[in-house]
Amino acid sequence: MAEYVRNLWYMAGWEAEVADGGWLARRLLDRPWLIYRTSDGDYAMIADRCPHRFAPLSRGRRDGDTIVCGYHGLGFDATGACKHSPFGKTLPDSVRVATLPVVARYGALWFWPGDTAQADPAHIPDFAFMADTSEHVPGHMMMNANYELIADNLMDLSHVEFLHVESFGVSGELFTGKHSVKQDADGAIWNKWDMTNIRPQQWIVDQVGEGVNVDSELHMRWHAPAAMALRIGNVRAGDSSKTPVVPPMLNPHILTPETQTATHYFFTHGHGDFAAELARRVFEEEDHPMLEAVQASMGDTDFWEARPLILESDAGAIRARRRLMQLRKAEAA
Ligand code: FES
Ligand SMILES: [Fe+2]
Repeated sequence: MAEYVRNLWYMAGWEAEVADGGWLARRLLDRPWLIYRTSDGDYAMIADRCPHRFAPLSRGRRDGDTIVCGYHGLGFDATGACKHSPFGKTLPDSVRVATLPVVARYGALWFWPGDTAQADPAHIPDFAFMADTSEHVPGHMMMNANYELIADNLMDLSHVEFLHVESFGVSGELFTGKHSVKQDADGAIWNKWDMTNIRPQQWIVDQVGEGVNVDSELHMRWHAPAAMALRIGNVRAGDSSKTPVVPPMLNPHILTPETQTATHYFFTHGHGDFAAELARRVFEEEDHPMLEAVQASMGDTDFWEARPLILESDAGAIRARRRLMQLRKAEAA
């Protein structure tokens, strides 16, 4: 399996997942981490593994900004330093746990697993829209699949016409559309489907009534390593003023590897039972089992060594994979 690209911001979780006075314990990029809010209001991210006998520090307790190991009582602060030993003697400075830069932005926590000197929060991709909690309910699920396989799924929305026929009520409209891929100067890759004069998806028909055709756009934006934003827009067919018939939808699909074959999938859905149920159905019942089956079918074979058939509809997904390969190569050098 390919190495992780290190010099990037990855999403660790939602701020809402960090309990007040507690922490979020999560395995990220093959290592266990613990994230907590310190008394100055910032966040700290320290290894969730005591250097003494490797107890998870998340089995311990908080004493202010110090995490006290639940096994033999060593205490570590937000800088990773051992600030407390119950054994009387001060331990050398070298006794510490690893830390990573972590920043809160847009309701999410972002960490930098690479060279700390390069960790500039200005490089966190723009997900300002998801900070609006009146529109976005944060979600998180685990998928037992490599994160690049899940990015393939999101960057190739032709699968909607097969995997999500029931939930979205589609019937081939996507294939009447124009498909394009482009890359921005900042490395963002756009995978766009633009359809004209189509019958809208069923959830839109439910809102605008039968017989209204739409011009529809399905635009996915990708940032390395696998932070995606999907924009779905619909205007009445031929409406040059581009007035939406339903409010445009903007949703994050952000992937962070837990391991090479398990991924944290961060998403949001709207408020209310309908939106929650649609998200559950689409993710849990449709994408989730298919992606785990794809991973199981591949085992630990490398993607390129398995010699995948590449179709035109894969163009965005392949562009994203190539971009990650370039970044990996640059880091290896
Ligand atoms: S394992 Fe943490 S103090 Fe012993
Ligand atoms: Fe899907």
